[in-house]
Amino acid sequence: MASPLSDLKDWRFEIDYEDIAWAIFDREGETMNTLGRRATEELERIVSHMENAARNKEARGLVIISGKQNNFIAGADIKEFEQWTEVSEVAEAITQVTDLLSRIEKMRVPVVAAIHGFCLGGGLELAMACHYRIADREEGTRLGLPEVKLGIFPGLHGTVRSIALAGPVNAMTMMLTGRMLRPNVAKAQGIVDELVPTHHKLRWAARKAVQQKRKSKGASRIQNLMRLWPIRGYLAGQMRKQTARKAREDHYPSPYKLIEIFERFGGDLKRMALAETRAFAPLMVSDQSRNLRRVFAVSEKMKALAPKNMPKLRRAHVIGAGTMGADIAAWCVISGMEVSLQDLSEDQIGKAQAQAKKLFRKRLKKKQAVDAAMARLIPDPDGRHVHRADVIIEAIVEKLDIKQKLFKSLEENVKPGAILATNTSSLPIEDIAKPLDDPSRLIGLHFFNPVPQLPLVEVVRAPNTEQEYVDKGCAFVTAINKFPLTTKSTPGFLVNRVLAPYMMDAMERFEQGTERELIDEAAREFGMPMGPLELADQVGLDVCMHVAEILGISGGAAKGSKLVELVEAGNLGKKTGKGFYVWAPDGKPQKENYAYDKAQLEQLGHDLVKPLVEECQKCLDEKVVDDADLVDGGVIFGTGFAPFRGGPLHYAKSLEEGGDAKKKKEAAAA
Ligand code: NAI
Repeated sequence: MASPLSDLKDWRFEIDYEDIAWAIFDREGETMNTLGRRATEELERIVSHMENAARNKEARGLVIISGKQNNFIAGADIKEFEQWTEVSEVAEAITQVTDLLSRIEKMRVPVVAAIHGFCLGGGLELAMACHYRIADREEGTRLGLPEVKLGIFPGLHGTVRSIALAGPVNAMTMMLTGRMLRPNVAKAQGIVDELVPTHHKLRWAARKAVQQKRKSKGASRIQNLMRLWPIRGYLAGQMRKQTARKAREDHYPSPYKLIEIFERFGGDLKRMALAETRAFAPLMVSDQSRNLRRVFAVSEKMKALAPKNMPKLRRAHVIGAGTMGADIAAWCVISGMEVSLQDLSEDQIGKAQAQAKKLFRKRLKKKQAVDAAMARLIPDPDGRHVHRADVIIEAIVEKLDIKQKLFKSLEENVKPGAILATNTSSLPIEDIAKPLDDPSRLIGLHFFNPVPQLPLVEVVRAPNTEQEYVDKGCAFVTAINKFPLTTKSTPGFLVNRVLAPYMMDAMERFEQGTERELIDEAAREFGMPMGPLELADQVGLDVCMHVAEILGISGGAAKGSKLVELVEAGNLGKKTGKGFYVWAPDGKPQKENYAYDKAQLEQLGHDLVKPLVEECQKCLDEKVVDDADLVDGGVIFGTGFAPFRGGPLHYAKSLEEGGDAKKKKEAAAA
């Protein structure tokens, strides 16, 4: 009998000889399954059909599974979020989907979600509406509710379903951090009911679960007790404290709103579900969420700079095991590569290995994984492994002649097609490449310090660089899970160039009498991760001066300025214990506790970032970076520029538009 649902585009539906129905999500024309409007409408048809089939005893259960290679459902289709501008539109759209998920939950026959790959956001919300969840233990399988990263929280009753399954502590932690869970953790917490070793076993296990009418147990009694007052109030207080360490409520309201809903209604999940819907819609249309969604879209655009189907890069060779080289090598190892590490000093390589081990322990946790990573980091003082490497990264002293000599000596040893890259922060790529037989193959791969924390790498091209190598550079950067940004080889590239005038301007304000604490607090009020003077101390004041000189910035770096005075006295910031601040042994700057007026902080914050924003516009005009979105992405991921403002150029544009709207309003009123 032909399936009555044979016209579906994003799903396939079939009922097998054992009367088990299979809904296979395989969104047309996409490699990633996302729950867009059409997919949801088709799911509604599947659910209606199943309700009938269950009533007529034509199907004994339903399995929801993905037809994609590496994902179950990666979430809602966030492109579609942009069509909504009104709270009422969001509320209406969301209610349709929550109703659909409730129908799945109420289905008379067992509904099982069989999960392989990413199961995130709306995808996990759908899975949680099923009666039973089976996941495989494969490396790429991850479950999570990362909505807070987009300025919202789960809006398809995922807040209450996750609490019902995993208890308030596990569920709220998952939602408030947006962290993805490995399958074994998801199972231990109760989000998943059963694990199978590989995706090949999923169908068999799902079939059995339907036949045996398996149902999730739900949260334990003790976990449920935690929803009672006053424990709930205590938990909410703790959650608020932990959230405040990471994000301010005025910048990122969504986690605070979620805590509030839990605190008020967590004792009655039905009321909490209603409160979730009421609070969700205003967040969705807020500027913060819109801007965070923009940042997500920009990050996707950056990843797309890497052409698809590039050959896999397996081996890296890093030269220079100092501050940068050590971290670059360790990071490549964490990303799965085999890395040989070269330095003039064997001692330095030993230190780099010890430092890498610390990072591996922190990130990889299990001894087996740490040992395997250590085995992939190969000390190579004489550079014997260069000829095997797919990518060679130089991170030695910032001296043109020494770098030139090194690259000349490397050229005949490197494999054809291998990426040859320098991590220089200030030397023109074309100058370093000059002595090479083929200068067109050298690119810049400019990492930021500290490498494990900053997700950007500038891929720098000189006027004669071959595009093939720029493409390969971008592919390498995405392969190590960072965001690439292609820039022209001009002084400071993008990030240092836009940071320098911002920091110099702050230094000038300090010289002219503004308190350093006021300056730094105003920048934080704006949304920067730290203030410009604290940042200068962290970077090193000698480095700041050097960058200012390269960029030809006078003012802050001029003779007699505070910066020059500090550098000449050997006070270079955090590394010497003194700079603009005195640094305590615990690595924190000693600050006076002043209370500032919020309006004053806000105004100064906006004034402080002006030089940075103006420099971004110049970089765009001079095509240092070709595209305004990419400028925004580069500055957000390279400096931490307030993500909820959507990037410096976007922020400037919204100020203008806000100004225009205000003027129009005033004119209309007049
Ligand atoms: P560093 O001084 O900490 O380390 C340099 C290492 O290179 C030392 O271990 C030294 O023994 C080794 N070395 C010097 N000449 C060598 C040669 N001919 N062959 C093999 N090894 C040699 O320097 P750092 O800070 O790691 O900087 C390295 C490069 O990265 C520079 O070009 C710098 O401009 C750039 N950079 C630095 C950043 C930072 O924050 N430190 C940020 C971004 C780029």
